[in-house]
Amino acid sequence: MFYLWRRSQVPVKQPIKISRIDNLIIFLVCILISIISSYKLLLITPLNIADIFSWFLTFTEILISSGVLVLVSKKENPTISSRQIFLIITLLLVVQVTKLVLVSTISPLSMIIPPALIISQGMGSITALTWVSITSLIWPDPEIAINNNLFFILLICASVVSLLGGRIRSRAQLLQLSIFIPIGSFLSQWILIGKDKILINKQGFVLANGDIFSDSLLLAIVMLFTILFIPIFESIFGLLTKARLLELADKEKPLIRRLSLEAPGTFEHTLLICGLAEEATRMIGGDIDLIKTGALYHDVGKLHAPSWFIENQDGSKNPHDEIDDPIKSAEVLQAHVDEGLRYARKNRLPKPIANFIPEHQGTLKMGYFFQKAKEKNLDINENYFRYKGPIPQSKETAILMLADGCEAALRAMNINASDKEALETISKIIYSRQIDGQLDDSNLSKGEIFLIKRSFLNVWKRIRHRRIQYPTSKNNTFS
Ligand SMILES: [Fe+2]
Ligand SMILES: [Fe+2]
Repeated sequence: MFYLWRRSQVPVKQPIKISRIDNLIIFLVCILISIISSYKLLLITPLNIADIFSWFLTFTEILISSGVLVLVSKKENPTISSRQIFLIITLLLVVQVTKLVLVSTISPLSMIIPPALIISQGMGSITALTWVSITSLIWPDPEIAINNNLFFILLICASVVSLLGGRIRSRAQLLQLSIFIPIGSFLSQWILIGKDKILINKQGFVLANGDIFSDSLLLAIVMLFTILFIPIFESIFGLLTKARLLELADKEKPLIRRLSLEAPGTFEHTLLICGLAEEATRMIGGDIDLIKTGALYHDVGKLHAPSWFIENQDGSKNPHDEIDDPIKSAEVLQAHVDEGLRYARKNRLPKPIANFIPEHQGTLKMGYFFQKAKEKNLDINENYFRYKGPIPQSKETAILMLADGCEAALRAMNINASDKEALETISKIIYSRQIDGQLDDSNLSKGEIFLIKRSFLNVWKRIRHRRIQYPTSKNNTFS
């Protein structure tokens, strides 16, 4: 049964290891959250066994809930870092403390919805929804009665923010959300809670819990501040929001501009790969924005020595022939990965983007130079002519590796080649990477590999179509 269960599961990415110290810190924060959220149950006098038992149950429930939150965030983002888990549970801790301290002054809407926006943007909708349900589960404090209608509105608004937050692709859309959610909450409170609470409390203004207008105004202000601080969260916690991905994909970014000027061949290769990888990712339902940006930066390391790569040689002399040393040539090739990672660090590229740099080469063999070394009878280990890896750890980096392998072959293909020939070439390249074990950690299924082949073929057909010259007469050159 266990075997069948394992077989029936969709393969998941290898989770990254979190150090023991980080795990311990996360566990201690979870304990702190549980204590803060339940200690009031122990303040009852006189305290009897039943009270202690009920405190213990609440404490355990909160601790388990915090653990579930961490597990869900790891499941949704297998490459999540300890810093990001720390952000999620710290936000939970902050909300619990705020509830204790400011429960009578601040509306629960302003406490729960803005952090849900940060989590959905950085870690995804499912993690945000779990976070919202846990903060709402521990809410309310047993001593405080919360209006059921307000609780309902809170859940709806927080769920909408969690779901939309994970999909939003620009800062402008974020801004719209931060305006429409408070308006929505205001209207729904007006309808469900009552018109008599609409007046602004002159003493408290935005800090008057219970006054619908003040509550909604405070929510709008906190949400606007949250949006203002999201870029800071992105850089401190390494969050990769959709907006950040799209900003990085801007071809006017200095590193990409440099690539287009100093290594135009590599830049052209990059653009073609973007097309191949994007189409394939769309076919298998992967993260298109991630792969588009990752593909753009995958070969930036070639900037360290553009003329050593064939696509930039433009018919001039090949430096590899001049040095005639396969070992040195292999070192130059490996350097495009090492230097790429250095550029990534210098330009503060987020880790999921930087991962494309080593993983697109995996541990592939530099076949040409290995062959040359063998011809020269050099007694050298094959591993010396392999990239250092790691092999692709996600579907997206694996697709990029396959696109990288197929690009040159497809570009060189005869314009009159049939679809069958093109598909055969693609299949051969993909199969060689498969049997070399390069796709072992990527969790690409056989069906997905089939779809990737078909999508590469579709892109090739598009390219071939573009290359066919249309007959135009002198009098008709405008259509
Ligand atoms: Fe490369
Ligand atoms: Fe490449």
